[in-house]
Amino acid sequence: MSEAKRQAALKAIEYVESDSIIGVGTGSTVAYFIEALGDMRERIRGAVSSSEQSTERLRAVGIEVFDLNSTGTLSLYVDGADECDPHKRLIKGGGAALTREKIIAEASTRFVCIVDPSKQVDVLGRFPLPVEVIPMARSLVAREILAMTRAQPVWRQDAAGRGIVTDNGNAILDIHGLAITDPVALEQAINQIPGVVSVGLFARRPADVVIVGGETPQVL
Ligand code: A5P
Repeated sequence: MSEAKRQAALKAIEYVESDSIIGVGTGSTVAYFIEALGDMRERIRGAVSSSEQSTERLRAVGIEVFDLNSTGTLSLYVDGADECDPHKRLIKGGGAALTREKIIAEASTRFVCIVDPSKQVDVLGRFPLPVEVIPMARSLVAREILAMTRAQPVWRQDAAGRGIVTDNGNAILDIHGLAITDPVALEQAINQIPGVVSVGLFARRPADVVIVGGETPQVL
């Protein structure tokens, strides 16, 4: 799949405008995009990054990283996804960067999502849905999600059994066993639970363009 990811990332370079500041997501597909963006660093002003990991990668290829507060609206945001449905609605957050990703998506005029074909689904939910939560509310939010969806939230932990900590200092719950027939309604409902920082459903603000990598990348 890594060749498909690379092809999707290279196609996304066509959307980059000279002298612009690009919103940049997180993950292995975006890593190919950052590599290609590095080759054209003289032609862009810089990037806004969705994670510490992407910030490091951007700086390593010589791209200046800006604070979103100083840039205003961005013309382009490029990011990967964990799942994508036919309406360009997404599940994101497998890399725990969902909150900053959601902020940048909202701040951008055009969101180009780059995926390999394994990410395409008819109904979202096979990939466990990530929810970023304030640490003290972790159990409360898990109980409320269980009551609301009948699906099981699982506290994301590392191999040593320690709860993972997001770039914002929070915890992640992954909701297993969902079949999300109304993503907009579920996104809104989960957002209402006190203690939820954000949910990795991008339905209210879906992608504008999805590029599915392959020998000939498909632009949806
Ligand atoms: C990061 O939190 C995620 O939203 C990523 O965009 C998503 O997990 C896709 O990752 P890959 O490009 O590594 O598949």
